[in-house]
Amino acid sequence: MIQLFSFDSVPKLVAEFSEFLINEINRAKEHNEKLNLALSGGTTPTEIFRYLSKNIERIPSLNHLHVYWGDERCVPPDNKESNYGNAWREFLQISNIPEINIHRIKGELNPVDALADYDRELSLLPKKNNIPFFDIMMLGIGSDGHTASIFPDQSALLKSREFLAVANHPVSKQKRITLTAKVINNSKKIVFIATGSSKQKVIHHIFNDAIEAKNYPAYFIKPHEGEISWYIDKEALGL
Ligand code: 6PG
Repeated sequence: MIQLFSFDSVPKLVAEFSEFLINEINRAKEHNEKLNLALSGGTTPTEIFRYLSKNIERIPSLNHLHVYWGDERCVPPDNKESNYGNAWREFLQISNIPEINIHRIKGELNPVDALADYDRELSLLPKKNNIPFFDIMMLGIGSDGHTASIFPDQSALLKSREFLAVANHPVSKQKRITLTAKVINNSKKIVFIATGSSKQKVIHHIFNDAIEAKNYPAYFIKPHEGEISWYIDKEALGL
């Protein structure tokens, strides 16, 4: 079952999604459970990280929170393109999350070594169907329908038997490390966030099950057993 949450504005979407994360983090703490969260990249999450930072006193204990990434650009952490770097600058560095709980993809390494290193990080996760799984998988969507770094011209990553892959951005040719759909679809909760009119076409096609959606990797992200929800603003919904 797909849950769709639509919002009049990005700030309202950011607040609602951030409150969802705060509740999930605190609920796991109350139940003395680890929470394995995969963060998405791109620009959309920045406002969410800033909201969490502004409300940091409401997530007082983060010893049980482990953060990973769905994908990473093969750049050093101090590069503005770094998904980890963005999360660190905007949120993680002011939080009290133990450094050992931050499982970044080492974009400064050559892609093969970065993939091998992150594969070791993924081995720390619990498994379901012998595949690592996340409690929450946060994803964005590109205007071409990509998600994580699974691009339309690399749709083989939707069926790959591997957990991870080296991908190439179709335009910039930038190397990326990405989770494959095998891991993404094994998550307990998948949450897409889409804002802005540039996402309108892909959102329209996906939610109308249009033939064009078959070109979008994001269309094939459906959890095997978990839940999926979309947080979309009115610009992206075309309202
Ligand atoms: C990345 C992402 C990518 C992103 C979408 C949306 O590393 O860029 O993981 O999948 O979520 O491209 O990006 P925006 O939030 O910048 O629109």
